[in-house]
Amino acid sequence: MRELFFISLICLFISCDLEKKPIASKVNIIPQPQSIEFMDGQFILDQNTRICGDKELEDEMNFLADLIGLKSTFRPKVENMIREKGSCIIFQKVEAKHDEYYEIDVQAHALQISAKSRIGFLHAIQSLRQLFPANFNGDEKLIEKSWAIPSVKIADQPNFKWRGMLLDCCRHFMPKEFVKRYIDLLAYHKMNVLHWHLTEDQGWRIEIKKYPLLTEKGAWREGKDGKPYGGFYTQEDIKEIVDYAYSRGISIVPEIEMPGHSVAAISSYPHLSCTGEQIPVETEWGVFKDIYCAGNDQTFEFLKDVLDEVMLLFPGEYIHIGGDEAPKFRWENCSKCQKRMDEEGLNDEHELQSWFIQEIENYLSSKGRILIGWDEILEGGLAEGAVVQSWRGVNGGIEAAKERHDVIMSPTSHCYFDYSLKSIDLEKVYSFNPIPEELAEDKQHHILGAECNMWSERAPFELVDSKVFPRILAMSEVLWSAPFNRDFDDFYKRVQEHYPRLSALGVDYGLETDPISFATYFEDGLRLQFHKGIPDLDVFYSRTDSHPTPSDLRFDDFIPIDKNEQIFAQAFKSGKTYGEPLAVEVKHHLAIGLDPKYDFEWSPYYTGGGKRALTNGLIGSLDFRDGNWQAVQFDDVECVLDLGGKEVQTIESHFYQYNNSWIFVPEWVEYAVSENGEEWELLERIASEHAPEESGKFIQVFNTSFEPRKVNYLKLKAKNIQYCPDWHEAAGSSAWLFIDEIQVR
Ligand code: ACM
Ligand code: ZN
Repeated sequence: MRELFFISLICLFISCDLEKKPIASKVNIIPQPQSIEFMDGQFILDQNTRICGDKELEDEMNFLADLIGLKSTFRPKVENMIREKGSCIIFQKVEAKHDEYYEIDVQAHALQISAKSRIGFLHAIQSLRQLFPANFNGDEKLIEKSWAIPSVKIADQPNFKWRGMLLDCCRHFMPKEFVKRYIDLLAYHKMNVLHWHLTEDQGWRIEIKKYPLLTEKGAWREGKDGKPYGGFYTQEDIKEIVDYAYSRGISIVPEIEMPGHSVAAISSYPHLSCTGEQIPVETEWGVFKDIYCAGNDQTFEFLKDVLDEVMLLFPGEYIHIGGDEAPKFRWENCSKCQKRMDEEGLNDEHELQSWFIQEIENYLSSKGRILIGWDEILEGGLAEGAVVQSWRGVNGGIEAAKERHDVIMSPTSHCYFDYSLKSIDLEKVYSFNPIPEELAEDKQHHILGAECNMWSERAPFELVDSKVFPRILAMSEVLWSAPFNRDFDDFYKRVQEHYPRLSALGVDYGLETDPISFATYFEDGLRLQFHKGIPDLDVFYSRTDSHPTPSDLRFDDFIPIDKNEQIFAQAFKSGKTYGEPLAVEVKHHLAIGLDPKYDFEWSPYYTGGGKRALTNGLIGSLDFRDGNWQAVQFDDVECVLDLGGKEVQTIESHFYQYNNSWIFVPEWVEYAVSENGEEWELLERIASEHAPEESGKFIQVFNTSFEPRKVNYLKLKAKNIQYCPDWHEAAGSSAWLFIDEIQVR
């Protein structure tokens, strides 16, 4: 009995001892530090640990103490004396070339953080957070008595100075707490700029005391249910957010759009537009022709007043004034704008836009601020001190850097996180190089860095996480880590380890890539092939089950197709479904696999998959970016199929309309046949059933049928309407024609 008692007592001691010893997690930091050295051992942080350093570092030391206090039974004491003995986290200043430089040295008895500046200490704290186990992060209440931090030596600094994200709080209003949460998430990944998009056609989001209607009226649009939809930030909200961002080392760059994307302001104060007409706050997405009147002095009085209040709220050097997507239609037809052009000796409306931006640039620079604008501000001449944000590719950025202007890169190809994973996935973002190869070395220093853009047309705040994450992890590494430290495979592994941290932070992250893409090809008949977005996926498919499981067929090589079929596929990662199931519709017909002879050049942006886009059995959907549509701007579509005498009875082709995106169905479609490919017999000219004015996205089918006949050559011609009509927001711009699949039966 006594023996038993002693044995139990020993067990109790052992188990207590085990319970006490925390285990350090694997080291896995995103973005990857410049230098990291691994050592044996770990630092134990518990109630005896003090945080010690100079008084001037008290805010940063308290930030760390608070983070620890939230998750522990203790909050470490912050002291201004460095201890000789005992467990200690030491904050110490260090000389370094780079302002953001920091070091972390974790030894068994002391953990030292050294940095040159406040910002460096904040970066060090963020790296340190990632040295804790995943459950150290986030708001979940968790109380630990002690923590283990692995022994490492880190020396680190960023590769680019500007590491930003644009958050569009206009298309959908995002609550104050949500914005603060994003500030935390940016800081956690060492991003340092929040580009805050605050004014738009669909809503004005910043309180301006001198112009109360901007938020009384301009912050609200008619919602889908007919009720006012929107919101705005009071000046108190903004001060709170700006202070919060400062405490996390994030600069906020406010964007006040001009001269375009200004419908909400014009709706509040109609005298600011060329027509002076009362218009509602926009409810649709797009580019709108009502913009600020450049001939009206009151426009500039208004904008300068607004900027005065903006500058009081935002202490940072940079103010973004938009400048993108400003149609010149109103200016062309406005006597005040035309008079201004005469007086100022301006040759066209692009020069008028340039003059407009220069007025604002002069004003901002007189107040010691720097203007940023989208790359359209290059058109008609770039204002002297302006910084260019290049979004329509990188060429605007190259041109600006050549003219010795600073540049922020945000090309749609890599940086638009509102775009689907089909066009921008994790690996694509990781492959981004903000410095274009063709830029001369002596101009490269003008590339300050880059921004990822989270436009919110299709993303109310509930969806933002799934679009931003995990892609922003790639962007943070592109901008922070040295090129020699960047390896996608290694990064990908670290991302997998990072997910538990994101989960603890409450991030509802999305996928890394489009799980399954598909294509057909022609070899001994038509074949369907699935491509996995990442190698570690399994794909299962079914002809009947719309949610295939691993008990369905496993996809290996290809699926032969000899009739119209619908095939469902589902990807699995580590046994769990990855993404939504995919439904692929394949049409089998007589023209499958033929190479049409084209008499038009399709756009490189909408190839439909190339020369067999119209004969591959895949049909374009209501998503005109689905990869199946082939498109041409301004020109007609004309092509010939060599059917080799096959018996034909029906012909059908599809065209797309979405006039917001300048896409119109053709005026008419003609089908003609020929014996020799030279003399043609017209089968039918089919007029469009839809007017260009018809809104929304839809597909028109142009089909014809006739008595069965043998056909050698078949020609299709579709007439482009050529210009966006007069009533259109982009009146006079070249119209798009989108075609898919010529189905012959
Ligand atoms: C932009 O995407 N219009 C800058
Ligand atoms: Zn005007």
